[in-house]
Amino acid sequence: MRAFHISLSWVAVFVPLSLAAASTLSSKVIDSNVSITPTEANFGLSAVAPGRFVTSTDGTKIFADARGDPSKPAVVFIHGFGVGAMAFNNVFDDPLWLSQVFMVRYDTRGHGRSDKPTDTPSWESRRLAEDFDAVVQSYGLERPFILAWSNGATHIVDILTIHPRSYLSGIIYDAAVPSTADLAAVLSPEIAAITPGLTVLDNVTDFQTTFIGFINLCHPALEWNFYLACLGDGIVQPRVVTEFLLNRTQSTEGLLRAGKEEGLPLLALFGGEDKILLKQPVLDAIDGWKDLNVVTIPGAEHFTFVSAPDVFRDTVLQWVDGVLSA
Ligand SMILES: *[C@@H]1O[C@H](CO)[C@@H](O)[C@H](O)[C@H]1NC(C)=O
Ligand SMILES: *[C@@H]1O[C@H](CO)[C@@H](O)[C@H](O)[C@H]1NC(C)=O
Ligand SMILES: *[C@@H]1O[C@H](CO)[C@@H](O)[C@H](O)[C@H]1NC(C)=O
Repeated sequence: MRAFHISLSWVAVFVPLSLAAASTLSSKVIDSNVSITPTEANFGLSAVAPGRFVTSTDGTKIFADARGDPSKPAVVFIHGFGVGAMAFNNVFDDPLWLSQVFMVRYDTRGHGRSDKPTDTPSWESRRLAEDFDAVVQSYGLERPFILAWSNGATHIVDILTIHPRSYLSGIIYDAAVPSTADLAAVLSPEIAAITPGLTVLDNVTDFQTTFIGFINLCHPALEWNFYLACLGDGIVQPRVVTEFLLNRTQSTEGLLRAGKEEGLPLLALFGGEDKILLKQPVLDAIDGWKDLNVVTIPGAEHFTFVSAPDVFRDTVLQWVDGVLSA
């Protein structure tokens, strides 16, 4: 494991380079606005949003959105538990990100604008990998990086169960839960104490208190509109979907083979003030990973990229650059 420390002098050198590149932004993917018609499968959501629907192998409609120059290296952002792809709004609005990579995100099944199937077969590991594949195919991505936040990292297990290591260029773990089996070990006592309230069916007060408590643990002082959007994403998810997200079973064989034997590069980011995720159990779960960099962002909450957007961006982009030029 290589040591990798944030150096302020390096950040100072890196930022002006990014600014220079930002002024020469070329083609951008502009998706047209999609109407989201209320259906049982999307839990009655009614909205219009710029982006596209892609259809997964089992027919589930997945909402995806991309920004930037498609000729640049692709990074697919996978959001975490209960809050959809809008979680990355500040990242996707940042021209310094756009100047370096082609950015793609999607609402994972059961979240945001995507369908929210409630039957058991829809939550087999393979189904979630096929959602990712549908996004990759729709945007024509080749060997993308995945940046996965929190519970979103469990999707990488699904993806590497049906795909070889060569399908991806690298993985960025952002305050990540490696697999659903690791949930019990990696969650802080504060979040573990309130988790039962996420799936309660007979007490609205309990659910409200819990979901609000969860968002507050992600970051204690979010901008108001963004805070409401996070809470709203909790509301559009059927509770049975929440249960599947927390109890679905996976095989970590492909993930660990890719990391321990096949050299898949991994950057593991942590927030120094994270109130949800415990760092050491995450590192234990991927013990023996060959190409691993670990960075703890001082002062950052579980919402690392909201807490410290500049350090987060520069750390990720510097690492991506290093992987591509290796
Ligand atoms: C989508 O709708 C928004 C709000 O009405 C509008 O500003 C934007 O130009 C539309 N985008 C496209 C690509 O049609
Ligand atoms: C519902 O949940 C609230 C908050 O956790 C709790 O105070 C209350 O006693 C619960 N009500 C019932 C009827 O269980
Ligand atoms: C997981 O949750 C779903 C939805 O409530 C339920 O049908 C299923 O039996 C649960 N599976 C396990 C292994 O607990």
